[in-house]
Amino acid sequence: MSVQIDTSLEEIRRFRPSPEFAAQSVASESLYTDAKADRLGFWATQARELLHWNKPFTQTLDWSNPPFAKWFDDGELNVAYNCLDRHVEAGNGDRIALHFEGEPGDSRSYSYAELTAEVKKAANLLTALGVRSGDRVAIYLPMIPEAVISMLAVARIGAVHSVVFGGFSADSLRARIDDAEAKVVITADGGWRKGKVFPLKNAVDTALEDGLSTVNHVLVVKRGENEVQWTEGRDLWWHDELAAVDADHVAKGFPAEHPLFVLYTSGTTGKPKGILHTSGGYLTQAAFTHKNVFDLHPERDVYWCTADIGWITGHSYVVYGPLANGATQVIYEGTPDTPHQGRWWEIIDKYKVTILYTAPTAIRTFMKLGRQIPQAFSLRSLRLLGSVGEPINPEAWIWYRHVIGGGSIPVVDTWWQTETGAIMISALPGLTDLKPGAAQVPIPGIEVEVLDDDGNKLEEGGGLLVINEPWPAMLRGIWGDPERFKETYWDKFQGKYFAGDGARLDEDGDIWLLGRVDDVMNVSGHRLSTAEIESSLVAHHLTAEAAVVGAADETTGQAVVAFVILKQSHQDEVTDPDEISAMLRAHVAQQIGAIARPREVFIVNELPKTRSGKIMRRLLRDVAEGREIGDTTTLADTAVMQIITSKVR
Ligand code: WT7
Repeated sequence: MSVQIDTSLEEIRRFRPSPEFAAQSVASESLYTDAKADRLGFWATQARELLHWNKPFTQTLDWSNPPFAKWFDDGELNVAYNCLDRHVEAGNGDRIALHFEGEPGDSRSYSYAELTAEVKKAANLLTALGVRSGDRVAIYLPMIPEAVISMLAVARIGAVHSVVFGGFSADSLRARIDDAEAKVVITADGGWRKGKVFPLKNAVDTALEDGLSTVNHVLVVKRGENEVQWTEGRDLWWHDELAAVDADHVAKGFPAEHPLFVLYTSGTTGKPKGILHTSGGYLTQAAFTHKNVFDLHPERDVYWCTADIGWITGHSYVVYGPLANGATQVIYEGTPDTPHQGRWWEIIDKYKVTILYTAPTAIRTFMKLGRQIPQAFSLRSLRLLGSVGEPINPEAWIWYRHVIGGGSIPVVDTWWQTETGAIMISALPGLTDLKPGAAQVPIPGIEVEVLDDDGNKLEEGGGLLVINEPWPAMLRGIWGDPERFKETYWDKFQGKYFAGDGARLDEDGDIWLLGRVDDVMNVSGHRLSTAEIESSLVAHHLTAEAAVVGAADETTGQAVVAFVILKQSHQDEVTDPDEISAMLRAHVAQQIGAIARPREVFIVNELPKTRSGKIMRRLLRDVAEGREIGDTTTLADTAVMQIITSKVR
C-alpha cells in the first residue's frame, strides 16, 4: 500500500483527450450537467433510452425503507430480450455478438440472431427441467459461449443465476449451491487452461456426492472431451437436450426489482456473501457505463473485456452491458501465455479489437515480460484502454498507454465493486483530462464522498470512500441475510454506503483509490478474505492457529502470506518446515481454489497479539513485506516480533 500512495502522490502528468477522440465521443458534458440538475430524472431518462420496457415505469426511486432501494419499481422488462431479441428486431441480427477464441485455437462466432436462437432453446430447456421464475441455477463453466448463453437463458425465464468461478474448488461450489439452494447446475466436462483440460464435471460430482443437495439436474456442456462419470437421471448432456427442445420462446416481462443474480464475494468473515442484484436498475447502469466509459460505437467497435464470467466484471462488462448495447465482442477461454506469451496481442490483431478492458495485474505481468512481445503484433486497431480491479500504479498506466496503446489513446481507470454492480468512478474518455493512477471522478448521476473516521466530509486529503446516494445498480442485499447487509455497509456512517476502500482527494477534487481498509485482500484484482483462508488453514489437522495478511506484491498487487502455529501434539511430525508449508499451501488451494493459495506459509511459534487477544496483522504485514517492524507497544508480549522476524528472514 505505502508504495502506491508514495508514487501516486508524486504523479503530476496529465493527458488531455485528443481532438479526434473528443470529436467522436459518445458522451458529452451535458451528461454531467443533466445529472447535477436532476439526478433521478437523469437516471429515468437513461433507463428509458437505453432499455426496452414491456411496461413503462412511473416511479424512479423508492428509498422509503433504506438501505433497501427500489428503482423503476412499477416497470417491467426482460433482461435477455434487452440483450438479444431487440437488436435482431432492429435489423442488427447479422451483427456479431461474440467472437469466441478457444485456448487450443478453435474459434466460433455468433451473430445476435444466432445467440438469440441459442438462448431461446436454453430457456425452453431450463423450463422443461422445472426451473421457474425466482429459482436459482448455479453456473460453473469455462469462458465459452455457453456461459453467456446460460446466464441469459436463466435471466430470460426470470430465474436467478449464481455463477461460480471455474477455479473454485468443489467445497466452495457446494457452499454456494447450498446457500442459494440451487436446483440445477450448468457445467462442462472440462475447459482448457495452460494447455491442459481442467475437469469441471469432476468437481461438481464431488460437490454433490452426498446426494443431499438441492440440485436435481446437472447440465453438462461438452468442451474438454475428457472422460466424465455419469449419474443417470441427474446428469444431462447440454447438446442432446437442446436438440430436443422447441426453438421458439417469447420473453415475458418481469418487474424491475425481480432478482437477476447472486454472486458470491469475500467479506471480512470466513463466509462469502451472496451479493444480490436485480433487473432494471442494474441493466440501466451497466449499459450506461459500458456505453459512455468505453465510448462504444456498436456499429464499428470490437470490444474485449478479459474478465471471466465468474466475477462481477464478467457479469456487467462481458454479458449485460455490452449485449444490452448491441456491441461486438471477443471472449477468450484460456490464459494469456498459452501457447505463447503473445496470445492476447495475437487475438487483438486477429479480431482488430478497438477497446480493451483488463486488470493492472495483467499489465504488470506483461511489463515484466517486455515490450518486444506485444510489439510483434499489430495493435493499431486499439483506440481505448480500460483498467479495473485494483489501483493501477502510474508506471503501469503509462506503459499500458504507450506500449499497448501506441502512446496517444485514453486509458480509463474504473473503480467499482461486486456490490456496486457497475462502474462508479471513472473518467469519461472524450471529456476528462486523464491522471495516471487515479480513477478521478464519479460518473454522472453518482455521488461519492471521502470521510474521516468520524464521518466528517473531507475536501482534500485521505480518508474513507462512501457512496452517499443510492444508485441504480446497487446491491439489493446479501442473499438470505438482511442484517449482515445493514451491518457491513450501512452502519458505520449512518445512511451512507461504506465501500471498504481508502481514498484520497487531490487539490482538483480528483479521487485516488488507496486499497482496502478492512481484512479483505486484493490478489490479482480478486477479492479474498483473510478470515476465510485462516479458517481453511486451521481446518488442517496440523494447524493450531493461523494469521493471514495481504502483502504488497509487484505483480499481483497483494499476495497471501500466512503465519501458522502447529499443534503441540503434532510437533514431532514436523521434520521439514518447507514440506509442511508446501502441504498447507496445497491444502488451501484444494479447499478454496487455486487463487487463494498462499504465496508463503511461515511456521512460527507465536503470533503477535494485543492484550485483548486480537492478532496485529499490521505487524505481520511489516514482516511479510520485509519492512522495519512498526509500533509494538500494544502487544501483550513485545518480544514475539523478534522471534517471528528471525524465523522468517
Ligand atoms: C474492490 C472490489 C469491480 C470489479 C473487480 C473487483 C478494488 C476495484 C479498482 C480501481 C482501485 C479498485 C477495491 C474494491 N478495486 N477497482 N479501479 N482502483 N481499486 O471487484 O472483487 O468486488 O472488488 O476492488 O478495493 O473495493 P470486487
